[in-house]
Amino acid sequence: MTEIILSTENLKKSFVMSKTRKVEAVKGISFDVKRGEVFGFLGPNGAGKSTTISMVTTQLKPTSGNIFIDGKSILESPAMARRKIGVVAQHNNLDRGLTARENLIYHAKYFGIDDKTANKRADEYLEKFGLTDRQNDYVKSYSGGMAQRLKIARAIMHNPEILFLDEPTTGLDPSYRAILWEQMLALNKTGTTIFLTTHYMEEPEQLADRIAIVDQGELKAIGTVDELKALIPSKNIISIKLARLDPKFVDQAKALPEVKNATITNDVLLLYMKENKPDFNRILEWVNKLDSPLQNISLSASSLDDVFVHLTGKGSVKND
Ligand SMILES: Nc1ncnc2c1ncn2[C@@H]1O[C@H](COP(=O)(O)OP(=O)(O)OP(=O)(O)O)[C@@H](O)[C@H]1O
Ligand SMILES: [Mg+2]
Repeated sequence: MTEIILSTENLKKSFVMSKTRKVEAVKGISFDVKRGEVFGFLGPNGAGKSTTISMVTTQLKPTSGNIFIDGKSILESPAMARRKIGVVAQHNNLDRGLTARENLIYHAKYFGIDDKTANKRADEYLEKFGLTDRQNDYVKSYSGGMAQRLKIARAIMHNPEILFLDEPTTGLDPSYRAILWEQMLALNKTGTTIFLTTHYMEEPEQLADRIAIVDQGELKAIGTVDELKALIPSKNIISIKLARLDPKFVDQAKALPEVKNATITNDVLLLYMKENKPDFNRILEWVNKLDSPLQNISLSASSLDDVFVHLTGKGSVKND
């Protein structure tokens, strides 16, 4: 077992679109995913996310570059890689002519899982994803959200070491989105690495250990949420409106350990904080000791959404 579960080296993919047009969907991406982490892979439509997932899950051959799962090149040993990975593709690739239960059991059989274990897991996941009542119905009779839930159940039937989820929560109602996350985090706790693409920024912001942002086939940034936020001009600013402003407040504020810088702009005292999540209460305590009544105080913090817009020039999906 290697510490790096997935590694790509200068991964490229070109598609022939017409006689005269070729598109380089992935333009030489290199990154590592550590075993056990929740890894967010974000980018606008057409960035190359699904193309990358298809390549690292052995479904699509790269134009050039290399991919390693658990230290072994998947181009040389695709069958070994397939046992270690689970995939929830963006499109519906269930067998529509089979029942939900058959989809799960056949998948487990393909991976050599014995009948007893397969049936036990199928029971558990059908229950978990709210499909027990419909387990013997053909998948072609399923709603979009039900099919999505079944795809996720199927992907984890063989206990993959790394699970790839390409926009898994799209089409799921809020309660199943929460169930999916609960399931993913439970799997992650038992050691499964989670590789996720999504357009809902609050999911990776809250749940991912590290995030990569891609755009137009290129890797724009990679790091923890806080590391990515540090790439953009700080918005961790506390604005303080006081009845009377004294220039000495600026110097006093600068002397506070959590304050990076302070200025007075438009009769408002602005504190630029060192931390991404400053201790608002401590600042409030300090303000209350100043001999000037407080009229207003507010905090604006940068979000992953701001980082996404900054790096790609495009907005993400806001989840209200
Ligand atoms: N099979 C294919 N044949 C030709 N072009 C393709 C194929 N698959 C993807 N592309 C092109 O590659 C580029 C990247 O597509 P990809 O599906 O990887 O993007 P994505 O980041 O997953 O976007 P989305 O958020 O819309 O799912 C696009 O320009 C797309 O048109
Ligand atoms: Mg996609």
